[in-house]
Amino acid sequence: MRYFQGKTVWLTGASSGIGLAMAQQLAEAGAHLILTSRRHDALEQVRQSLAHPERHQVLALDLSQPEQAALMAKDALGDQIIDILINNAGVSQRSLILETDMSVYRQLMEIDYFGVIALTKLVLPRMVERRAGQIVTVSSVAGKVGTKLRSGYNGAKFGVIGFMDSLRAEMAQYGLTVTSILPGFINTQVAHNSLTGDGTALGHEDPDNAGGISAEECARKSLEAIAKQKAEVVVGSGLSKLAPFLQRFFPGLVRRMIAKR
Ligand SMILES: NC(=O)c1ccc[n+]([C@@H]2O[C@H](COP(=O)([O-])OP(=O)(O)OC[C@H]3O[C@@H](n4cnc5c(N)ncnc54)[C@H](OP(=O)(O)O)[C@@H]3O)[C@@H](O)[C@H]2O)c1
Repeated sequence: MRYFQGKTVWLTGASSGIGLAMAQQLAEAGAHLILTSRRHDALEQVRQSLAHPERHQVLALDLSQPEQAALMAKDALGDQIIDILINNAGVSQRSLILETDMSVYRQLMEIDYFGVIALTKLVLPRMVERRAGQIVTVSSVAGKVGTKLRSGYNGAKFGVIGFMDSLRAEMAQYGLTVTSILPGFINTQVAHNSLTGDGTALGHEDPDNAGGISAEECARKSLEAIAKQKAEVVVGSGLSKLAPFLQRFFPGLVRRMIAKR
């Protein structure tokens, strides 16, 4: 993908799953990467495994504290030009509303919603000044269709699509591109890392994610959409890919199907 050649891409969630696959494909495509997640050592391993490791840098940040993460990033990045920010880091949920602590809702919002806003606000002024740049956020089909066990995740992923829509409208006059990626079920560690009602990780896989498309395929389709500067794209297969369409045109049917699952 020639689009990424020589571009500086700040990619969050680069240590595993979709982000790791994106990092590999972006490095192959000639991008210069800033790799972010919490785990510095894991990111350093990723960096060394990529094509042209010397072109890439590691920036470990904890997005559960978005303002602090943004301050650390500001210090680390200084005046560096960012061509594309990909807000991909995220955490999911597997717990019923009746059994979920408020602190879990707050944590999901910090990482999946406020984390996106904090990093976007950090890179935006320079992009506006340069009249160039692209902000990408990996939301989810769960940002269009609410299901059981994901109430906080649904809220954050719905919210972030709204934020991106507003950002797109405000940035059109400056020529910036704003892209939302909505994956369906993808075979990654997302279920394993999902928060349960008391905030601990679920710790095992989920058959829906295990049966989904690979992280590599998701990354390839997402990067194609980014290169085409699409506003919004759904990536996945089967029912999870169809769900936003069904929700829009047959909402009653979708409500009944979800309540029965
Ligand atoms: N897999 C799916 O079926 C699916 C479907 C729809 C949407 N998505 C979205 O796709 C994105 C990537 O998920 P994935 O499937 O690749 O899951 P994953 O394998 O669990 O990867 C999540 C990534 O986010 C990082 N992360 C988690 N908490 C963080 C924090 N507090 N601060 C900074 N980084 C943090 C993790 O790195 P560290 O552990 O090193 O921090 C990791 O790199 C997420 O936004 C997810 O919601 C996934």
